[in-house]
Amino acid sequence: MIHKPLSLLLVDDDEDDYLILKGLLAKITNPKIKLDWIADPNQALSVIGQGTHDIYLIDYRLGPMSGLDLLANFDLPVREQPFIILTGAGDSRLEERAMLIGAADYLVKGSFGVDLLSRVLRYSLQRKRMEIQRLQHLQEINKSKDEFISLASHQLRTPATAVKQYIGMLLEGYAGPLAEQQQSYLQSAYSSNERQLKIVDDILRVAQIDLKKLRMRPESCDITVWLRELTEDIESIMVDRKQKLVYTAPKLPIVANIDKLYLGMALTNLLDNASKYSNHETAITVSIESDTNGLLQISIQDQGVGIAADDFDKLFVKFSRIPNPVSVLVGGTGLGLYWSNEIIHLHQGKIEVSSELNAGTTFTVSLPQS
Ligand SMILES: Nc1ncnc2c1ncn2[C@@H]1O[C@H](COP(=O)(O)OP(=O)(O)OP(=O)(O)O)[C@@H](O)[C@H]1O
Ligand SMILES: [Mg+2]
Repeated sequence: MIHKPLSLLLVDDDEDDYLILKGLLAKITNPKIKLDWIADPNQALSVIGQGTHDIYLIDYRLGPMSGLDLLANFDLPVREQPFIILTGAGDSRLEERAMLIGAADYLVKGSFGVDLLSRVLRYSLQRKRMEIQRLQHLQEINKSKDEFISLASHQLRTPATAVKQYIGMLLEGYAGPLAEQQQSYLQSAYSSNERQLKIVDDILRVAQIDLKKLRMRPESCDITVWLRELTEDIESIMVDRKQKLVYTAPKLPIVANIDKLYLGMALTNLLDNASKYSNHETAITVSIESDTNGLLQISIQDQGVGIAADDFDKLFVKFSRIPNPVSVLVGGTGLGLYWSNEIIHLHQGKIEVSSELNAGTTFTVSLPQS
């Protein structure tokens, strides 16, 4: 069987290496291999980025940049083409590092002939094809899991909402007056049901985000006014904790395109966290400002328990809750920051955090202005 020709890109700053490889490749006929050569690593960066070759051979020594530095710019395990490292000397540590970043194989210059080269190219390609198939299979399984979660949480939502309505009717006295203890038991049932609904909603939202089904419907609005209303809505939670909410905004409007519903949920979660992870009688400051780079910044600052710098990278991970003196008392699923972060990314924005233990935390959301 005749296979279609393969294209191979050699990145190597030594012309002699190119000529030697060209000579060896000319002897490989099935499939034929078309060789392109780039000596400059910066030019190689953009050509590799386009992904037009079937296989890449990268010299370890490329002048100022090592071949591994060049490859660090690409996510090799998910790239469809194999990358092979070429080096002048057998170095087992280099071999290990190349493997760790996802290189398919390793060839020592001067120590391979046509047979070894041909075998390495064929095996690398075949292994890569199998890896990509496995990856696609895993992605399909993951998608089915998200679809199942999305469907299951939808189904759970309907009866849980009905329970809420019936308990609400009993509490309103629709079925006659209630004794004090009945009232108290029903109140507990109502709160548990509300928590259950929040968890179901969170899980549903996460499944929709992971399935990329959450669509933002942005509309233009003056964020200073909208955010003031949002903070007023959430102030009632803080009243129970005797916390004070301070809102500061410039007098002039700051206009941006936002999905009020979803961005509102994300900021409400940040405000809810600021309150939950702070002691009673503390202040939470919400401020908004616009900078000269066309961004607006919303900061939510609390005087709470704080977050250790080592824990920052866990904050936006699904189901991750960081133990602190109040996290056992206040409930939570550890999903809030995951979906808040995703919603902010869907607005082309980002969240940053700074914190000091036992002093407080500031979450800053940056969004493009219109
Ligand atoms: N302002 C804050 N101060 C201190 N810790 C915080 C703050 N915000 C978040 N955290 C920590 O980050 C963790 C994750 O927050 P996240 O909002 O994702 O989940 P949660 O509040 O635990 O639950 P929920 O999913 O109901 O929002 C929290 O459990 C808490 O440990
Ligand atoms: Mg939260």
